[in-house]
Amino acid sequence: MTEDFYKYQAQTTPHPLALEISHAEGSYIYDTSGKKHLDFVAGVSACTLGHCHPRVVSAIKTQAEKYLHVMVYGEYIQEPAVELAKLLANNLPQNLNTTYLVNSGTEAIEGALKLARRATGRTQILYANNAYHGNTMGSMSVMGYEERKNAFKPLVPDCFPVNFNGEADLQKITTETAAIILETIQGGAGFIQPENDYLKKVRKRCDETGTLLILDEIQPGFGRTGKLFAFEHFGIVPDILVMGKGMGGGLPIGAFTASHEVMALLQDNPKLGHITTFGGNPVIAAAALATLQELTETDIVQQTLQKEKLLRKLLEHSLIKEVRGRGLMLAAMVESPEIASEVILACKERGLVLFWLLFEGRAIRITPPLTISNDEIEEGCKILTDVLNSLQKR
Ligand SMILES: Cc1ncc(COP(=O)(O)O)c(C=O)c1O
Repeated sequence: MTEDFYKYQAQTTPHPLALEISHAEGSYIYDTSGKKHLDFVAGVSACTLGHCHPRVVSAIKTQAEKYLHVMVYGEYIQEPAVELAKLLANNLPQNLNTTYLVNSGTEAIEGALKLARRATGRTQILYANNAYHGNTMGSMSVMGYEERKNAFKPLVPDCFPVNFNGEADLQKITTETAAIILETIQGGAGFIQPENDYLKKVRKRCDETGTLLILDEIQPGFGRTGKLFAFEHFGIVPDILVMGKGMGGGLPIGAFTASHEVMALLQDNPKLGHITTFGGNPVIAAAALATLQELTETDIVQQTLQKEKLLRKLLEHSLIKEVRGRGLMLAAMVESPEIASEVILACKERGLVLFWLLFEGRAIRITPPLTISNDEIEEGCKILTDVLNSLQKR
């Protein structure tokens, strides 16, 4: 299969990890040679409840036997999508009560940007340096990493960068600004958290200027940081909340949520202002609903904070300079990108899945399933520290 993988399937890098998958369950992925890999990455923060969680699999099977795709998004009343949107509303602040379901994170960002322009009648969008919001043209236009954008320009006009945590840049939010889009915790940049009430200050400036605050919680959302959504840590509420990744429990989904009043603007003038064929797909919505039910009916989300403590304790090592992030969205920072790569590849050989962050080469991504056990955390950290010890001895 490996040969066919390189021959027929489009690649994203010259050197994929190319693990040939047999099956996956809980915190483990099994390759076709029979080797077991402990997963500290969770499909890049997407497998919230681990691999093939029974509640998610059962919801998928039950729905698959009833009906699959029957109609484009928004026309027919389909129980999984309605129940998912309702349960989200019940777990969010009052103004975030209406959800538009799409197929991926980047598509949800596109919808949010369009909604902000439609709601304000303004065109300017501000975004943060080192931000990552996805790879379609709109999302790329608000990516804060020029080097990766250059080959694809011209992108969407009237998008300008600000510094994340940069108070001096707050004045760039003006009455011309439709929206400022921020990741609540910056992912690709290196798991950077807002400091000194930054988000409260952004919120205040948005209120002064009639600008919408869009928070991208595609990575930190769905419990990863110890709250259902990370903005809950920072005492503010966005106007538009964007989610994806971990929402689907392993299936592809994205969504953006706003007030009923704002979201209604996509219905008319022009009619069909944002449409999608497969958004709200019943099987995927059923998987997302089961995921959200599990997260809200158990203490899995709260447990991430205790698991973070354990990880931080076990990751104390002279080669790890700092552990960034919150909950189970952690990055072990080493001295150089070369060391990070060496550690990630050596751990792969020893049966521990780790990964890189997009723009911060010195980071080793640690974003396991939220369901990982303490024993599994200890097992993974032992492999990681053994690898670090052997590097140190050289
Ligand atoms: C913060 C953030 N925004 C947007 C995206 C894009 O989501 P997707 O890959 O589902 O399009 C990602 C994916 O990594 C992300 O981490």
